[in-house]
Amino acid sequence: MDDRTWARTPIEPQSVNAPLSTAAVFLVVTVNTGAADSARDAATVATVRDVISDIGGLVRAVGFRDLNGHLSCNVGIGSDFWNRLGQAKRPSQLDTFHAIPGAGGHTAVSTPGDLLFHIRAERPDQCFELERLILAKLGDSVTVVDETQGFRYFDSRDLLGFVDGTENPTGQSMAEAALIGDEDPDFAGGSYVVVQKYLHDLTAWGSLSTEQQEAIIGRTKADNVELDDGERLSHKGLNTIVDENGVEHDILRDNMPFGRPGQKEFGTFFIGYSRDLWVIDHMLRRMFIGSPVGEYDRILDFSKAVTGTTFFVPSNDVLESLAG
Ligand code: HEM
Repeated sequence: MDDRTWARTPIEPQSVNAPLSTAAVFLVVTVNTGAADSARDAATVATVRDVISDIGGLVRAVGFRDLNGHLSCNVGIGSDFWNRLGQAKRPSQLDTFHAIPGAGGHTAVSTPGDLLFHIRAERPDQCFELERLILAKLGDSVTVVDETQGFRYFDSRDLLGFVDGTENPTGQSMAEAALIGDEDPDFAGGSYVVVQKYLHDLTAWGSLSTEQQEAIIGRTKADNVELDDGERLSHKGLNTIVDENGVEHDILRDNMPFGRPGQKEFGTFFIGYSRDLWVIDHMLRRMFIGSPVGEYDRILDFSKAVTGTTFFVPSNDVLESLAG
């Protein structure tokens, strides 16, 4: 018997904290059901288990072809599919995305999704290749419900023209904001993630003056300096969450622009990772319902949410343990 010992390896999160990349693919799929045939359903779930638990192998296969591409992939699992996996335990806050009927005719819609693959790299071809291989392995066990190719736009600007991502937490603050800790020990190192796909009306947005746009976002456009809010809270003000003890709660975002000018499609794919799902929910309620009620985020007058889905991103250890 080998009597050598190792210190227990610390829990390893997925690549939640991967640096902002120049390319990304956001792939959302549902897992097909074989309702009338439970044997087929079990086979479908087994296929998915095999693919997601071994995602690291696929990332290495594609990523090793150019290590400078820094390819990474986070797998998120939706609430309903977690139930289908039949695990004994469940992340304590995992829930479906609840639609928020907001003010001004704006709604945060809820749309289906069992699995999220958040693929990032410095090379779009690596993102493409990994997505292709994942889908080939999943075969007819899944249906693609959304597939968005994001790109980094000049100095990390969104298509509204503002630098996006500045106030993201880094280092230890990132872990505190985005990763589950001792409060849910079985799922420590995991993260909840919410995705929403927004389509912009750039013509209407472009008809505003720069000062009007800056008041909506809460930062200057050219040099990205934070502004004080006026009477009505800006996007920045609405998304600053301070609890009753004066503690500020943050999330980790990696929004990406996407678009097809020929189809007049211009968008922002919002992705937010959080240790506590309530923080994102609170942000969304302040954006859509307003604070005070009715004074919603004016970004929404120019941006329509067309998807909205919540997932749990387990640590690598939990993900690997899902192998059939
Ligand atoms: C149309 C979609 C969106 C666009 C174009 C957008 C754009 C921006 C921009 C330009 C900033 C300022 C720079 C920065 O700190 O990143 C910002 C800040 C922020 N956004 Fe968004 N955002 C969008 C949706 C959302 C959503 C849905 C949430 C949350 C559920 C959110 C949460 C935040 C937070 C937390 C900040 C930082 C606030 C601060 O502490 O200063 N954003 N966003």
